[in-house]
Amino acid sequence: NWKMTSFIDNEITRVRRLVGERGQVIGAVSGGVDSTVAAKLMKEAIGDRFHAVLVDNGVMRLNECQQVKETLVEHLGINLTIADASERFLSGLEGVVDPEKKRKFIGNTFIDIFEEEAIKIEKAAENTPNAGKVEWFLQGTLYPDVIESISYKGPSATIKTHHNVGGLPERMMNGQGLKLIEPLRELFKDEVRDLGRQLGIHEDLVMRHPFPGPGIAIRILGDVTPERVEIARKADHIFISMIKEAGVYNEISQAYAALDTNKAVGVMGDKRQEGYIIILRAVTTTDFMTAEAYKFDMDFLMKISRRIVNEVDGVSCVTYNTTSKPPATIEMQ
Ligand code: XMP
Repeated sequence: NWKMTSFIDNEITRVRRLVGERGQVIGAVSGGVDSTVAAKLMKEAIGDRFHAVLVDNGVMRLNECQQVKETLVEHLGINLTIADASERFLSGLEGVVDPEKKRKFIGNTFIDIFEEEAIKIEKAAENTPNAGKVEWFLQGTLYPDVIESISYKGPSATIKTHHNVGGLPERMMNGQGLKLIEPLRELFKDEVRDLGRQLGIHEDLVMRHPFPGPGIAIRILGDVTPERVEIARKADHIFISMIKEAGVYNEISQAYAALDTNKAVGVMGDKRQEGYIIILRAVTTTDFMTAEAYKFDMDFLMKISRRIVNEVDGVSCVTYNTTSKPPATIEMQ
């Protein structure tokens, strides 16, 4: 793909000129497509003078932190710091049931932790001769994000705050005095995927579904306790693995398993046993503003359901959410 090859060459030249011989760059990574592609581009341009920071917020998917580490460090050779803040997030989430409060808490705590890491990286740089100061902050902003932040007043923006790392650029730029660097700001998602392939990022990651910043905290309806996080994670893992094995992952725009607030009565032998309710959601969409439920084969859905009930302790019931957006939204909270 000549267009992407020349984009990479031009961007590497531009970043090198911008950052100069000594400056350092930091950026948050999530394991998603955009932040990984942006990070790899920086690695190509300035090597270890780019520092990626992954904040483990305790509500990522099963084994996700480990997978991000493998991809970024072992596969892509990126300089990565993992800030394990899962306890801090989970204890702060205790008793928080309002989804907007979950979003706000996770967003704000994320920024605090990222800032603490940035300060540590800055201090370490001071003691390393020739490293140069941390002067730049990397954001994997795409063209649709730019447009959205200028003009988007769509239905779900007024319904949900869509907290991801909102406020992070402001804190890094105004608080820490860093300059913003956004190598993907003229690209659409498909172009970012192409760019990722061109940079040698594996297909699994390039085609990954989007995952919300507040993670499975907004997919656990009601209380986010460590036990409930484990259940939602395991069910989600089974669901996503089965979709991948069946070869339909790429036909679906986003899929996940949510955990309901209520419990359902089940039978174990001849005893009454209350168990958790899992709600599966899978949608197709082009712009995430409207979406349709994915039409699974019923036998396949029942197979997923059986596996979840059999393999995830405490679950007695699995349902499939068939609602379109609108009137529903893609996340249930
Ligand atoms: P809704 O639920 O509004 O979601 O139909 C549309 C898209 O936005 C994602 N989403 C979020 N992403 N932080 C994020 O980073 C959030 O708080 C958030 N809420 C929803 C959702 O996953 C879907 O892709």
